[in-house]
Amino acid sequence: MSRYLVNRCICHSRSFKEVKDHAEEHGITSVKELQAEDFCSCGCGLCIPYIELMFETGDTEFEPGAYYKKASRAD
Ligand code: FES
Repeated sequence: MSRYLVNRCICHSRSFKEVKDHAEEHGITSVKELQAEDFCSCGCGLCIPYIELMFETGDTEFEPGAYYKKASRAD
């Protein structure tokens, strides 16, 4: 287990917890909707697969590369 966890959109300076709370408050269910509001995920895009995982799992902290691990388990 890495001692570092991915827990924020760096480009927008927002934690995934903030993103999750905002999404729940406004009925948002996709990254595209968050991008349309310019809330997060409009910069480098590195947070996008983690936020997709957040929508899927409800978690707000992830091991680096967690989405690759999930994808490899699905094969
Ligand atoms: S980290 Fe979210 S857009 Fe760059």
